[in-house]
Amino acid sequence: MALDRKPAPNDLSAFWMPFTANRQFKKAPRMFVSADGMFYKTDDGRDVLDGTAGLWCCNAGHNRPKIVEAIRQQAGELDYAPAFQMGHPKAFELASAVRDMAPEPFEHVFFTNSGSESVETALKIALAYHRARGEGQRTRLIGRERGYHGVNFGGISVGGIVNNRKFFGSLLTGVDHLPATHLPENAMTRGQPEHGAWLAEELEAICTLHGPENIAAVIVEPMAGSTGVLLPPKGYLEKLREICTKHGILLIFDEVITGFGRLGSSFAAEHFGVMPDLITTAKGLTNGVIPMGAVLATAEIHDAFMTGPEHMIELFHGYTYSGNPIASAAGLATLQTYREEGLFERAAELAPYWEDGLHALADCPHVIDIRNMGLIGAIELEPIAGAPTKRAFQAFLNAYDKGCLIRTTGDIIALSPPLIIEKSHIDQLFGTLRDVLTALD
Ligand SMILES: Cc1ncc(COP(=O)(O)O)c(C=O)c1O
Repeated sequence: MALDRKPAPNDLSAFWMPFTANRQFKKAPRMFVSADGMFYKTDDGRDVLDGTAGLWCCNAGHNRPKIVEAIRQQAGELDYAPAFQMGHPKAFELASAVRDMAPEPFEHVFFTNSGSESVETALKIALAYHRARGEGQRTRLIGRERGYHGVNFGGISVGGIVNNRKFFGSLLTGVDHLPATHLPENAMTRGQPEHGAWLAEELEAICTLHGPENIAAVIVEPMAGSTGVLLPPKGYLEKLREICTKHGILLIFDEVITGFGRLGSSFAAEHFGVMPDLITTAKGLTNGVIPMGAVLATAEIHDAFMTGPEHMIELFHGYTYSGNPIASAAGLATLQTYREEGLFERAAELAPYWEDGLHALADCPHVIDIRNMGLIGAIELEPIAGAPTKRAFQAFLNAYDKGCLIRTTGDIIALSPPLIIEKSHIDQLFGTLRDVLTALD
């Protein structure tokens, strides 16, 4: 082969891609080969504005020097240490840094490798907590329709996504679901909708049905992201908290998306002023650079396990890579970057400009709803009759061709840019979307 000839592309068939239309992709691949700041570079040399922070995770943008350097250094210093019965300093440092960033009642941090694992971990902690306190009969778990809690069996059981229920068997038993928080009368609301706090009352009905003393935990995303940016109506989260407290049920906030600045505060719990008992995180914890997740627990929950003989393992749970040294180093550098650059405050400051730009698209064809909060936005399109998801997917492909990465779920376009976004990027993103929407069939 001549030296100046481009090597033949890899065979694309072996990699069975996750959550991807594999056949469509492999006919017309979309490849990123590098990234910096707000932009990806494609294999054909184009810049693509990152309108989604990767997958809601690169909150500090791409190729951030502190994070890159921390990973390099850590790989050459301590590549791996056993996670069980042994420690290394950076995992402890990172746990303290996460605790210091979290609202007050959260004192302890359990490391995982993903959002899905954080969810499984939180559900297991909830069940084991009740048992440790002599309430082992509390085994029922409550999720919510249109909730997304990752892809493992606990998460898809408490989640409320039809495809999971169709394809993956009978799932966990003893699970009920609250109704989704999305009401048509709230269409085109800016920020938190007015109507729907009453939807939380359904929890009382579930309690009456099963006996509240049999319910271990309620898990919700404070703001549902992956199923299309569904916001909690005003008063809704407060009501859930009130009912859970009344009946001794644990409240878990799945903050895999909302954690680490997305709404302009460290966590959505802080943003909404409602404190759960457990918080699940991942994504922004390491800026998406290295897989890592974490579950935050209050002292009350943690301390309930710290009984019995001291040589005994208190929580029978953990992962080979819990608190992995390189992930911990990446996490520490990520949190430092957020702090030094004031990125959460920046998200809060930019939110009104983002909101105005997003809602200005309301007059585009096919748009039936627009929703937003912090640096998150959603544009819901009228589905093509008989071909749901097709219109939004076409918008995704066209936006990519025009240099913007967006995400779609059903017929909803979801946007969640890195928190380093500038007003000029916001203009570029919404300008491109206007062109894309205007040209759509
Ligand atoms: C709320 C929520 N929980 C859990 C997950 C699963 O995270 P992961 O893909 O890291 O397993 C996601 C992913 O988008 C999420 O949004």
